[in-house]
Amino acid sequence: MSEIALQAVGLVRRVEGTITHTLVNGIDLEVRKGEFLAITGPSGSGKSSLLYLLGLLDAPTEGEVIICGQPTSKLSENERAEVRLNKCGFVFQFHFLLPEFTALENVLLPMRTAGRLSAAEMHERATGLLKTLGLGDQVQKRPNQLSGGQRQRVALARALANQPEIIVGDEPTGNLDTASTEQVFNILRGMADNGQTVVVVTHDPALARRADRRVHIVDGKIAETTLGGQRASEQEPAKASEGASR
Ligand SMILES: Nc1ncnc2c1ncn2[C@@H]1O[C@H](COP(=O)(O)OP(=O)(O)OP(=O)(O)O)[C@@H](O)[C@H]1O
Ligand SMILES: [Mg+2]
Repeated sequence: MSEIALQAVGLVRRVEGTITHTLVNGIDLEVRKGEFLAITGPSGSGKSSLLYLLGLLDAPTEGEVIICGQPTSKLSENERAEVRLNKCGFVFQFHFLLPEFTALENVLLPMRTAGRLSAAEMHERATGLLKTLGLGDQVQKRPNQLSGGQRQRVALARALANQPEIIVGDEPTGNLDTASTEQVFNILRGMADNGQTVVVVTHDPALARRADRRVHIVDGKIAETTLGGQRASEQEPAKASEGASR
């Protein structure tokens, strides 16, 4: 059985200026619940632009992003923000932690915004997440008192705080040492294995190969899709199961 968590239909993103830039040029993509998808491609090919569209941080010029069955193109800015807050977690290469807040407060923030848990529950969840990520003794430190890898793990804890169904990462291991990269990757892998959906842009071919599927972007289009280490046809979503009817 496969449920589609995230779907892009005919996505186009253009920026109009003296000349028109086409950042994303007609992308169709389906990502299954529990799938780990890696997006690769040369610098400037449109990977981040695509990710922003998939995570509702940006709106397409044409096309549709469907999140857990819900089309989003006709939503108001507030409704989009609501879907983003409830369904998506973001991890970026540059962590964007708030410098004046401690690790713990940074993780509490999205939970406070969502307003679903009591103060005690939020505190328990935030400390639990930080502990799981090996930061149990760092919770009171501010970002500038942490190492790069520790900051990245705080950012990951923050992305996971609201238990998002979809985790979107732009080079989430981009500036980490090997050990931290492995740790962050394993956490993301574990999340996918638990039924969350993970979409990450990576320049690291070894990491990309460990994803369930790789989508290679060139000039804002899908140039190649690779399934489980093998080449698959272009623009084809992963098959749900052997013998699935179309
Ligand atoms: N607001 C903008 N206006 C005009 N062009 C833009 C804008 N944002 C991005 N671009 C261009 O769109 C293209 C795609 O950018 P994008 O950031 O998506 O690339 P990328 O694949 O993530 O690259 P990298 O691997 O270097 O992060 C680039 O050529 C970039 O210069
Ligand atoms: Mg980028």
